[in-house]
This record gives sequence, structure tokens and C-alpha cells, in this order.
Amino acid sequence: MARAPFITFEGVEGAGKTTLARSLADWLQRQGTSVLLTREPGGSDLGKQLRPMILNQPLDAYTELFLLLADRRQHTLQRILPALEQGIWVLCDRYADSTLVYQGYGRGLDLDLLRYLNTLATNALCPDLTVLIDLPVEIALTRANDPNRFEAEAAEFHERIRAGYLREAANAPDRYVILSGTETPETLLANLQAVIQQRFLNLQQENPVAGRITE
Ligand code: TMP
Repeated sequence: MARAPFITFEGVEGAGKTTLARSLADWLQRQGTSVLLTREPGGSDLGKQLRPMILNQPLDAYTELFLLLADRRQHTLQRILPALEQGIWVLCDRYADSTLVYQGYGRGLDLDLLRYLNTLATNALCPDLTVLIDLPVEIALTRANDPNRFEAEAAEFHERIRAGYLREAANAPDRYVILSGTETPETLLANLQAVIQQRFLNLQQENPVAGRITE
């Protein structure tokens, strides 16, 4: 069986990626496609314990990076790769691009080092599609509702995040699709469905795995 699609969702806080990932998972499932909907940080058993520390505890930038990478490697080896190999689509709310953008453009760590460490952490797994929801920072921050160390950063930090995503998307235009977070959730989903249809479903004659969502 061919490996199933691996789709990641990225964007500034409050962009709407979590809602969009869930809506896409529901839509795929209704068509009989099996989906693993997961997230980082916190996708692995280890990561569930690390997540509150990463989000809430004051950390040195490298310590933060190593905890994120530890979760990513466990998550990739234990959950993402096995699912993809079984033909289960994986939708992941943040993945390696978040590290490039937050720890690189945001915290100022070296981008080449981060690319190298991401390759190690992911076993060189690269998403087939990365959905970037772009949104002006001033709108995003009014929507963000999960007070944590990242959300508490100054507006300039979030501007670097937004610009970093747009630069990474420009560097990999075949992998990224950019959607506007100013659209309604319904329009965002419809726009993404069109991309998914064109990229994946037209090629897929049949799906042998019965539909279910795993979280
Ligand atoms: P979330 O709010 O989308 O669940 O993400 C939690 C925070 O973790 C978000 O502010 C971005 C941050 N983060 C990083 O800084 N680097 C990473 O590699 C990941 C996965 C998340």
C-alpha cells in the first residue's frame, strides 16, 4: 500500500489551524478515509508530559528546542510513521516548520542548525502538504485564547513568526498552500477541500481503510 498523505497545519497563534484541521479530519472521515488527527507539542506520550512544561515554564531557548525535538522524534517514530504506513492520513497541528519559525525567526536560533536537527527528529519525513493560515498579527492576537509563554511574547515576536512563515512558504511553494485566516471557517474548509481534491483524491481510486479518526 502506498504511504498515506501527511498534512501539517501552521500559522501564528489564533490563526484558526486547529479548527481547520479538525474540520478537514471530519470531512475526510465522512468519505471513509481513516485519519490520525494529532498535534505538536504533545503528540507523543512523552510530549503529553512535556507540553505543559514547554508552554508554561520559563526555559532557555535551546532547552525549549530540545524538548520540542524530543517530542517530535517520539511522535514521528511511534505514531506518525506507523499510521502513514498503514494508509492512515495524518493531519498534524504544527510540526517541524513551527520549530524553524518560532525557535529560528522568533528566538533567533540558527536556521541551518534547526533544519539539521529537524531532519534528525523527523527521520527526514517531510509533509506532503503544509497548510499555512496567514493572518495579520493584530487580528490573531485578539483571537488567541490559550495564555502561555508564546502568546505572551511581544507583538514584534509574532510579526517575525508571520514573516518567517511567509518566507518559508516562498522557499517551498510546491509543499505549502497559504490560506487567509480572515476567511470564515466554512470558506477556509472549502478552499482546503479543493486543494485536497486536486492533490490527493483525484489520484485515489479507492480507499481500502474504513473511516475512523484517532486522536
Ligand atoms: P499551539 O498553541 O498551536 O498548540 O502551539 C503551542 C505553542 O508552541 C505555539 O505558541 C508555538 C509553540 N511551538 C514552538 O515554538 N515550536 C514548535 O516546534 C512547536 C511544535 C510549537
